Amino acid sequence: MTPTFTPLHPVIAAECSGIDISRPLSPEEVAAIDAGMDKYAVLVFRQGEPLTTAQQTAFTLNFGEQEPPYTQIQAAGGARIADAGIADISNLGPDGSILARDDRKRLSGLGNQLWHSDSSYMHIPARYSLLNAHVLPPDGGDTQFADMRAAYDMLDAKTKARIENLICEHSRIFSKGALGIPFTETELQAFAPVRQRLVRTHRKTGRKSLFLSSHAGRIEGWPVPEAQMLLRELTEHATQREFVYSHKWRKGDLVMWDNRTTMHRARPYDDSVYPRDLRRTTVTDGVPTV
Ligand code: OGA
Ligand code: MN
Repeated sequence: MTPTFTPLHPVIAAECSGIDISRPLSPEEVAAIDAGMDKYAVLVFRQGEPLTTAQQTAFTLNFGEQEPPYTQIQAAGGARIADAGIADISNLGPDGSILARDDRKRLSGLGNQLWHSDSSYMHIPARYSLLNAHVLPPDGGDTQFADMRAAYDMLDAKTKARIENLICEHSRIFSKGALGIPFTETELQAFAPVRQRLVRTHRKTGRKSLFLSSHAGRIEGWPVPEAQMLLRELTEHATQREFVYSHKWRKGDLVMWDNRTTMHRARPYDDSVYPRDLRRTTVTDGVPTV
């Protein structure tokens, strides 16, 4: 079947329908979805039922290689999901109960409420993220996506020229550290900053976009406070309402986004009472930005 795309916002995001992503796809279907990603940057698949780990992994592998495992901040009781290819985006511990208020996984997860691009703290950052909704709270917990292409386009010429060749340093030390999350020695070592271009050019479409993220904390060659101010200024610009699509989740939804051209953030919900269980797979972009 040929998938169809229904825009969900004037500049970003579309619903992709007419395709069952729990089954193997034809090369034509994969190409159509890839083209949809290049155009909309965020695609919503409303499946009704969550995928199994095997189904989500198989769907993900149509679009590239999965990110290799890396150091994650764990729940006190350890990992809930054994498969290293699945990121557990939930407020649940290994026994399925809601994490304690001061659990490190919960506190670290609060960092998802800061605007970010997944794995921008990795030397080779993420291309696509695919997030599937298993259990949702009765209200709150939306996910917002901001279009970094539209945000770049709307910058004035002077700003574009000023930022064209800047290199930023990204680390979880800057994002989770700013929230006051303490790190272990092992984490500090694993979280050494990496270099990323601030302006990226999409390899297929040639469109430029801002590569911003809460993980960005410095600009090479700049005094830190000046870098912080520019990054905050650009982030404020880039996350204005006209560039943002808010996704209200339904059970079974799979949302796929392009981390090269978007930022996203979670919105709060009452995580002391309601379980929220989403599961993410991630495709690596394969090449560094610098
Ligand atoms: C993620 C993420 C946001 C959310 O899965 O990478 O940032 O709303 N999730 O859970
Ligand atoms: Mn994320």
